[in-house]
Amino acid sequence: MPSRRGPVAVLALLAVLVTVLAALTTPAAAAASTLNQLARAQGKYFGSATDNPELSDGAYTAILGGGEFGSTTPGNSMKWDATEPQQNQFSYAQGDAVVDFADAHDMMVRAHTLVWHNQLPNWLTSGNWSAPQLTSILQNHIANVAGHYKGEVYSWDVVNEPFNEDGTYRSDLWYNTLGSGYIATALRAARAADPNAKLYINDYNTEGSGAKSDAMYDLVKSLKAQGVPIDGVGFQAHLAVQYGFPSGMQANLQRFADLGVDVAITELDVRMELPADSAKVATQATYYANVTKACMAVARCVGITIWDYTDKYSWVPGTFSGQGSALPWDENLNKKPSVYDAIATALGGSGDGGGGGTANCEVAYSTNDWGSGFTANITLTNQGPAISGWTLKYSYAGDQRLSQGWSGTWSQSGKDVSVTNAGWNGTLTTGASTSIGANFTYSGSNTAPTAFTLNGTTCD
Ligand code: XIL
Repeated sequence: MPSRRGPVAVLALLAVLVTVLAALTTPAAAAASTLNQLARAQGKYFGSATDNPELSDGAYTAILGGGEFGSTTPGNSMKWDATEPQQNQFSYAQGDAVVDFADAHDMMVRAHTLVWHNQLPNWLTSGNWSAPQLTSILQNHIANVAGHYKGEVYSWDVVNEPFNEDGTYRSDLWYNTLGSGYIATALRAARAADPNAKLYINDYNTEGSGAKSDAMYDLVKSLKAQGVPIDGVGFQAHLAVQYGFPSGMQANLQRFADLGVDVAITELDVRMELPADSAKVATQATYYANVTKACMAVARCVGITIWDYTDKYSWVPGTFSGQGSALPWDENLNKKPSVYDAIATALGGSGDGGGGGTANCEVAYSTNDWGSGFTANITLTNQGPAISGWTLKYSYAGDQRLSQGWSGTWSQSGKDVSVTNAGWNGTLTTGASTSIGANFTYSGSNTAPTAFTLNGTTCD
């Protein structure tokens, strides 16, 4: 009598098949924690600024909203020229787009910025305002803009860049017309407009000790003493490898925190003179790690924001001639392994969070196994600078013996396997992949190799 298989038997057979297939294909390493997950584990956030033009770049937004970042800052769209381009005519579409993106991707918004010397509309800079007129313009702007985003944003950079390098007040529209009192006026207006937003003063070159940092310290101390609403101090941290690392950053953050305010790293990037080389990138990775460690070590440091995450949209090349390569992701949206891992490690991660440790390569290894032999399929991705010519090495634990390989020159010595590129796949630009393979015989067990090196450097 012909046997007929019922649904249960078919399901059982399917289950066996799935199990066998799963066993035959060795998956690549599991995904590690994101930067924001690592920061969250320490009670902090890790964020990236963004800007409206790049929100139409799908590959870019997939990473921005893909979990690496728990906060964002609009790079331009909440500034005065964007939000009040004509007097008392407010424009929120661009800023709203950033807030909407953040909402849709579970990110906080650090709103930026209400009072600054830059990116002011013409009507404002060309008016010859009296102090009472300018005060009311300032209060009206803040009431409207901070009022529009009330309840939607985590914090406001209420005042941006009030100081000169020597610690004197910057000579700008605000200070020249209103004196330093404009800062308290702005903070009070912001508190009235959005009582729950954390109110910050933000500046650069205040990260370490020095005259500018001392001036900020004295200002915050005096604002606190006067009962002016101030919740935090932002340290932009636009660093450059050629200028050295700010001295005493952790102690500096701590002394501000001890005044009873939060502190945050708000615009971190580490630029260099182009072209990049391995020494500059190593210094850059150390700077990223040092900033991250300083924040992690200070309880009231609430988080870190990088000034966009990819060199594709960095402000650096357009602002500092001949400089660039400032961010942890390159222009092709690939992580820079050493920089990413330096941050991840400083956030308490294992350092193999997808950046690859000191690695400059990623290997995906899988097999099709028929019991006495198998095909090894390897996809090799170059995550470092472009290479011209490569050798990949790994070892088997068992008695796997090479019979034939392709897409490269394969050899084996004992347990050690070595593959050198073929003529056509020797050049791998950053982010480029090539797939190679070989057949092996074996008896006993066929355990997948766990470590690969490319030109002597360990891969993921
Ligand atoms: C920059 C933006 O990133 C650029 O797109 C814009 O052209 C100029 O401003 N400090 C700040 C930021 O507080 O607002 C600046 O952002 C970078 C320096």
